[in-house]
Amino acid sequence: MSKILTLLQEANGAFISGESMSEQLGVTRAAVWKQIKKLRESGYEIEAVTNLGYRLVKCPERLDRDKILNGLGAHPWKDRITVLETVDSTNNLAKREAVSGAPAGSVYLSDEQTGGRGRQGRGFLSPRGKGLYLSVLLRPVCSPAEVSHTTAMAAVAVNNAIARCCGVRPGIKWTNDLILGEKKMTGILSEMSVEWESGTLDYVVVGIGINCGQRPEDFPEELRDRATSIETETGRPVDRNRLAAELIRQLEVMSREILTGKREWIGQYARDCITIGRHVRVIRGEKTRTGTAKAIDENGALVVQYDDGETGVVFSGEVSIRGSDGYI
Ligand code: BTN
Repeated sequence: MSKILTLLQEANGAFISGESMSEQLGVTRAAVWKQIKKLRESGYEIEAVTNLGYRLVKCPERLDRDKILNGLGAHPWKDRITVLETVDSTNNLAKREAVSGAPAGSVYLSDEQTGGRGRQGRGFLSPRGKGLYLSVLLRPVCSPAEVSHTTAMAAVAVNNAIARCCGVRPGIKWTNDLILGEKKMTGILSEMSVEWESGTLDYVVVGIGINCGQRPEDFPEELRDRATSIETETGRPVDRNRLAAELIRQLEVMSREILTGKREWIGQYARDCITIGRHVRVIRGEKTRTGTAKAIDENGALVVQYDDGETGVVFSGEVSIRGSDGYI
């Protein structure tokens, strides 16, 4: 792959034919095409024109620790930031580091995840150079119940960061999906460890995956009508290093206010939440009920008035919203 990339880079933005590349490297045209495809999947923009060949248009901007630190300035977490090229999952890494004694405020970012994880055992597609994959380690001194609203707060932190850096404020689909144009653009996975003896929290890891530069064709076909990226929705490229710095800033504020600022943060969550007022389907295990989402309670739970008139509070489970095209 690097040899094809070198040839494209040496062409200085001019076209170079597939035939010429295959001759110079002693490989077949099909092999050249395969490598071009791989480069594109890694974030390189390569134009292909019949009879002219290929031209390197844009290299992916790498996540860069120095740029992130520059964007942060003097910040209490600046020595606790790890930026990797690739990792299985930043949540897994954060949990491994937590067990080894990493301090609160340790932040792990990676340009790619090979085993990105989502809720309910699902995966989270994390192609290189296209998204922001970040996990932060928190160690609030309290019981697990006192921080049950952490994911809701994190959703607001992400929204604040995106609003500042990308000029658009996403909607929040309860409980933890950020939405642009009715499609999912960010997912959040919070995981905690509790000390068995005392029942107190050992740590919380909040993992955030933001689709920044994916094009529709970067998503598998079955996800295309449900997943999107900031760039697709705004028409503008995302500076991931700047967004990372802003997100870290927001998460640090959140961590300081996690016990004291719940009311304000949940208030903002409710204002951003697109689920309120919509007809929803609530799936809990085998059971499915439908109703109208009425409000977000003080813990970030969803208050639903079911179609049979009963009102209930949903703390977890799958909630889908009825849209013009079925439930999303
Ligand atoms: C979901 O939508 O179900 C949650 C997705 C969470 C993805 C993020 S990406 C960074 C962190 N590392 C992971 O493996 N998952 C989270």
